[in-house]
Amino acid sequence: MVTGALGQIGSELVASLRKIYGNHNVLSTDLKDASEVDDEYYEKLDVNDTERISDLVQKHQIDTVYHLAAMLSATAEKIPMKAWDLNMNSLLHFLELAREKKISQLYWPSSIAIFGADTPKNNTEQNALAIPTTVYGISKRSGEYWCNYYHKRYGVDVRSIRYPGLISWKTLPGGGTTDYAVDIFYQALETGKYECFLSEETALPMMYMNDAIRATIELMQADPEKLSIRTSYNLNALSFTPKQLTEAIQKYLPDFEISYKPDFRQAIADTWPASIDDSIAQKDWNWKPEFDLDAMCKAMLENLKIKLGVES
Ligand code: NAD
Ligand code: SER
Repeated sequence: MVTGALGQIGSELVASLRKIYGNHNVLSTDLKDASEVDDEYYEKLDVNDTERISDLVQKHQIDTVYHLAAMLSATAEKIPMKAWDLNMNSLLHFLELAREKKISQLYWPSSIAIFGADTPKNNTEQNALAIPTTVYGISKRSGEYWCNYYHKRYGVDVRSIRYPGLISWKTLPGGGTTDYAVDIFYQALETGKYECFLSEETALPMMYMNDAIRATIELMQADPEKLSIRTSYNLNALSFTPKQLTEAIQKYLPDFEISYKPDFRQAIADTWPASIDDSIAQKDWNWKPEFDLDAMCKAMLENLKIKLGVES
């Protein structure tokens, strides 16, 4: 079962899991009515509805859950209590189902947002000081502790990655601080101009979606004996500023122009690392990213040109 399956990550994770396990073995769930979703193996599920979660787990004999539904950083700052409710309570319910052995494996994503302004910015280590100052970061950090607790105390097989900002072309991102790095490609192709809500020198950790999906599946398939982290793994791929991303896009679209108008998301980004040390993921389950900045830009532009019907 995948929750939040219609989102930026879920839409791609479901497709990849179905290639491996077969369509009928992967149930996608999200808030939309089933009649609105073109997917035979979809069920409507609000993850605040714990009874419905339990019913669906039983009805479909679910053994593994990828619990993606959450409120992302920028939206969460507007409605902090709702974000806390959504991000925490549903995780606890799935952890309880795992403790009761109603499911056998749980995946739950954390984020680079667990770090804070006092964290060293470059090559941020797995166990670097992490005092998050956004509600999203607090919920992810707390969730990591709960995952670790359920693993250590009850032997629950819960696995997690601290995703960097994810860049993809299939589904738009849903209210994060790193969304600029997707929006910029749409605007570059459609209008040739982009007004960025972060300043030009704001470096953040980022990753192309193909790498993130592969990492997720590789972690879930890894030998549990080799996994030394049950909070959440640091994961690294790219680190760039809006200015560096612009220059990379200009190699393909030389007339592309950017301007900067930082908004409330700048304050969030300022508390996050610029790059991540993921040596433990490399060691424990052989993690290695494939997409560098240029390969990511090329893939984004090629795929979006087709999606948006833009002439070369
Ligand atoms: P998204 O916003 O694109 O998708 C979230 C999905 O959850 C949406 O389809 C939404 O309809 C659904 N949803 C919202 N409330 C729900 C509810 N009450 N019940 C059921 N579904 C609900 O998010 P995403 O980018 O796909 O992120 C998925 C997970 O990965 C989240 O936990 C997020 O914190 C984490 N993450 C994402 C990124 C990133 O850059 N995309 C980075 C770090 C971590
Ligand atoms: N991309 C996410 C966000 O900006 C990071 O978790 O909220």
